[in-house]
Amino acid sequence: MKQCLVISGATVQLAPAARLSFSRLSSSVSKSPRNSNDLRSVPCSISNLKYSRSLDAAMSFDAEAKLENSWDEKESLTIGIVGFGNFGQFLARRFVEAGHTVIGTSRGDYTEDARGIGAEFFADIDDFCEQHPDVVVLSSSILSLDSVIRSLPVQRLKRSTLFVDVLSVKVFPKNLLLEVLPKEVDILCTHPMFGPDSGKGSWDGLNFMYEPVRIGTSKDRQDRMEKFIGFFRSQGCRMVEMTCEEHDKAAASTQFITHSVGRTLGAMNLERTDIDTKGYESLMSLVENTTNDSFELYYGLFLYNPNATQELERLEQAFDQVKRRLFQRLHEKLRENLHINLE
Ligand SMILES: NC(=O)c1ccc[n+]([C@@H]2O[C@H](COP(=O)([O-])OP(=O)(O)OC[C@H]3O[C@@H](n4cnc5c(N)ncnc54)[C@H](OP(=O)(O)O)[C@@H]3O)[C@@H](O)[C@H]2O)c1
Repeated sequence: MKQCLVISGATVQLAPAARLSFSRLSSSVSKSPRNSNDLRSVPCSISNLKYSRSLDAAMSFDAEAKLENSWDEKESLTIGIVGFGNFGQFLARRFVEAGHTVIGTSRGDYTEDARGIGAEFFADIDDFCEQHPDVVVLSSSILSLDSVIRSLPVQRLKRSTLFVDVLSVKVFPKNLLLEVLPKEVDILCTHPMFGPDSGKGSWDGLNFMYEPVRIGTSKDRQDRMEKFIGFFRSQGCRMVEMTCEEHDKAAASTQFITHSVGRTLGAMNLERTDIDTKGYESLMSLVENTTNDSFELYYGLFLYNPNATQELERLEQAFDQVKRRLFQRLHEKLRENLHINLE
């Protein structure tokens, strides 16, 4: 890891013992009166010296500056995906097809899967960060995000990195990322409202929810975010900007119920026949779309959605109500036929 002192314009590489931690440095830099979102050239005084931390932990200052500036000149982004499972690979495939460079890391080893997609896999999280992706997409399970983000060596990334989460719940990651990530990095919370099954064909008209939670005002940071969400727009997605709070309120009675009904029908082991109606085909698609997702995902929707328990109860009550109506009608008919008069 290289860090540099700039003394009267000269750049001196610091010995390991003299290095400042990223967090200490961040707090000193953020006291600067200048725009705290654009820290590339913000000087700050430490022991009467002008200190400027290298932007990129592993490269010379010049190289880092070039790297930092290069992404707004090029059309493509280097996108790092943390959590290279079902959904991470689904996104990676489309990013690569659109010409972006994709690197991945995960708990398991997905070297071969990444190669098949045209991406590169780094089993070592430090190696992953030292590739200095423009964007880090967090695609781990809802339940593991806390430990994943806390164990990420953020100091090895470019300090202006854009973090994007794609979790199916939104208030939880928003609060977590704001709490854990240094304020120099940008945060964009998103939820592509489709997955590997529902989005296996065209993404035309599929909803993409996003909230720019904390994006620096400088042009390069704004452009980078635009470039990232522009990818989804270019795929035909219907772009919906809303807050994470609004998302979770709406998703409680849409997403969670969809998954619950799909899983309930899935538990019935329904089968296709030669004379399926369109309605039944839709139900079978629902079963496939929901049961192909991990149970961990469904449990995450339940655990991190404050309205989920209530929605589950409402679903149960509605089912009982429908069942009661059927049996009530049946009982009336039986009584009629049996000439039973209860009056
Ligand atoms: N599937 C969809 O349709 C869909 C749609 C929109 C958004 N999302 C969101 O995308 C994310 C990924 O979803 P998914 O469908 O791939 O399934 P998931 O079961 O929600 O997540 C699987 C991913 O989480 C990682 N993971 C699980 N437990 C972990 C742990 N203890 N420590 C570190 N990593 C762990 C897995 O890594 P390893 O494989 O390496 O173990 C894998 O990359 C979720 O947050 C989900 O809400 C999914």
